[in-house]
Amino acid sequence: MSEILITPNPILRKKSLPVKEISNNEITLSKKMIKIMNDAPGIGLAAPQIGELKRIITINIYQNEKNIKYTLFNPEILSFSENKVIMEEGCLSIPKQFADIERPEKIQFKYLNEKGKIIEKNATGNESRVIQHEIDHLNGKLFVDYLSSLKRNILLKKVNKLKKNGEL
Ligand code: NI
Repeated sequence: MSEILITPNPILRKKSLPVKEISNNEITLSKKMIKIMNDAPGIGLAAPQIGELKRIITINIYQNEKNIKYTLFNPEILSFSENKVIMEEGCLSIPKQFADIERPEKIQFKYLNEKGKIIEKNATGNESRVIQHEIDHLNGKLFVDYLSSLKRNILLKKVNKLKKNGEL
């Protein structure tokens, strides 16, 4: 059984709290998140997706022939590019559903690494996309919220049907 919460679990709609200090608990949690993300498999995971309302996200993508794999504590977007791009998104909490979503192409962001150091970075492509998607989770927002209510309901109903049929 997966430990990943699936929509419409109300925890997915709550706002997560900042991490006050990166203690052993937070490190253990982030390692658990990486394992769950890899096992799923997924390219990103936010702590609320496993029931922990903490501002922690993990990312694991392949871009420009590089593996980009790290954990972000208290991630915050500082600025978005004006240019927007459409990319297909999915979510481990909305299994087997995908939709084209428009978001800013590039972001400037900051976060704390596992040593508590503030890192400031720019991202584009998949990295930018995953970070925007995962930070949304920390604010109780899901990618389907960007769709019309008609499209959103279709996707959410499909998840309910999969659940009912025991396909999740
Ligand atoms: Ni997601």
